[in-house]
Amino acid sequence: MKSVILVALLLASAPSIRAQQLGLIANTDGRKTVSLDGQWQTIIDPYESGYYDYRYQPSANGFFRNAKPKSKSDLIEYDFDSSGALKVPGDWNTQADQLFFYEGTIWYKKSFDYQRKPNTRLFVYFGAANYLTDVYLNGQKLGQHEGGFTAFNFEITNLVRDTGNFLIVKVDNKRRRDAVPTLMTDWWNYGGLTRNVRLVETPNTFVHDYMIQLEKGSRDHISGWVKLSGDRLNQKITVRIPEAGVSKSFTTDANGIASIDFNANLRLWSPEDPKLYDVAIEAETDQVQDQIGFRSIETKGTDILLNGRPIFLRGVCIHEEAPLRSGRAYSQEDARTLLGWAKELGANFVRLAHYPHNEFMIREADRLGIMVWSEIPVYWTILWENPATLENARNQLSEMIARDKNRAAVVIWSVANETPLSDARLSFLKKLIEHARSLDRGRLMSAAMERHYVDPKTQMIDDPLGEYLDVLGCNEYVGWYDGLPEKADGLVWKTKYQKPVVMSEFGGDALYGHHGDASTRWTEEYQENLYRHQLSMLKRIPFLRGTAPWILMDFRSPRRPLPKIQDYWNRKGLISNRGEKKKAFYVMQEYYRELGRIQ
Ligand code: GCU
Repeated sequence: MKSVILVALLLASAPSIRAQQLGLIANTDGRKTVSLDGQWQTIIDPYESGYYDYRYQPSANGFFRNAKPKSKSDLIEYDFDSSGALKVPGDWNTQADQLFFYEGTIWYKKSFDYQRKPNTRLFVYFGAANYLTDVYLNGQKLGQHEGGFTAFNFEITNLVRDTGNFLIVKVDNKRRRDAVPTLMTDWWNYGGLTRNVRLVETPNTFVHDYMIQLEKGSRDHISGWVKLSGDRLNQKITVRIPEAGVSKSFTTDANGIASIDFNANLRLWSPEDPKLYDVAIEAETDQVQDQIGFRSIETKGTDILLNGRPIFLRGVCIHEEAPLRSGRAYSQEDARTLLGWAKELGANFVRLAHYPHNEFMIREADRLGIMVWSEIPVYWTILWENPATLENARNQLSEMIARDKNRAAVVIWSVANETPLSDARLSFLKKLIEHARSLDRGRLMSAAMERHYVDPKTQMIDDPLGEYLDVLGCNEYVGWYDGLPEKADGLVWKTKYQKPVVMSEFGGDALYGHHGDASTRWTEEYQENLYRHQLSMLKRIPFLRGTAPWILMDFRSPRRPLPKIQDYWNRKGLISNRGEKKKAFYVMQEYYRELGRIQ
């Protein structure tokens, strides 16, 4: 019975076939991979003439053919090899001035040779591509992926040739009303192959996916599953955790799936002791290694319990904006810089807004002992009644969970940010929450909600969505969009729910180095003053179990044109994009030091 449920679960989690022939390969570390990063030939195609004919019908002779004139009278109107080039990984907006505001299609081409060994399979793996991506190999369509912030892969075993392969990728970051996110966001719509691209080689039958985590609420019982893919699905598999003296064997069923559960005496992962274990999954035809931490995360009334003990989430929000240089962050170095600053602030938690960040961020958080809130970009006013929009959001949720389900650092899945109340919205988000719970019962569900005044002095958190969440996220901008900083002093907070609240956004803008008195907007003194009043208000909220000020570092936004102050940057960072700490940074740091001392 358990494996039937398991099969149903795993089939539910398989992202839509349109996107992938096969669900996401769980872990490519430790596998034979070939990086395709570097310079890719590109063609900027604002009218998608490489995809549609003049009747706006998909053309059979599109740029994916990579055609070359065979004779002097042949008519070919494009040529990748004499066109421009862009670096991958990387957004295109910060690589060329004429692409800074560009929203449309760019075609990428990468040529490569690959001698595939017998009895092996080959996949092309994309860390992410923003937003709608069509992938072709040697003129053949592999598939399409929608969503700018989750990983996807395609199998190319039967298409790859020893030499002269050409991988062509059409990336379109045009915003659409029915998309996720929709037309309006407060972040830069960086387009392109924004994360690593690599070839991944596996045996014919390989360990495709697995989930190995502590059973909900337990601190010594591991439960999960392993899934094989290939033609020898019925195998003996062994899960080994040498340091914990664990070596447990199971047998996969006809679908290649084994559910696993066993007791183990483990040192639990926590911010104070981010213990990661080497875990090996061995099948008869394959094996993978991973580094996994084990911890339990639950709520009890208004408390959040990590490994059974109440904890306060000392957090900060982070956008995937590259520190010290402009553009979409993607590297291990970017992750170390951003999380290093969060640590310096005294954080044990980060809210990665408003979309899944790159894997380096999550693995680094695992290593550093920083708990993570990971979110899908169901942001502001989505087309709630559109079934395709729901399917798209659900798919992004599946992919987010698929990649990070074995990461101890990830404690909260968030399904939305600041979405307006309506029945259609509630039913949309309830479906997402149910879907996430069906894939992962071990983590907490949340969303960043809004609050309202029940009287001029009382704030209420009673969004009907709260009923279905474990942790209530609440965004408030008292002192910036809502009055002046002093307004926070007299405010009382109430909630309808007996659940923990995390203030998932608060703060205000300041341009680093811009000084004046505390009531002058955009100055560091105004921001500093705002934080002082905020913190004294937050300390008075009895059910508050976490804070995540908006935001660690200034980030680019097309909604922020104020010359000489914003210049298309949202300046709510506690740190400038050049790494300069604003006065408010130290106010927040002092508060977290104080909390850290008493916790
Ligand atoms: C909102 C939103 C953020 C935005 C911020 C701001 O609450 O969630 O994405 O950047 O406010 O206005 O700065």
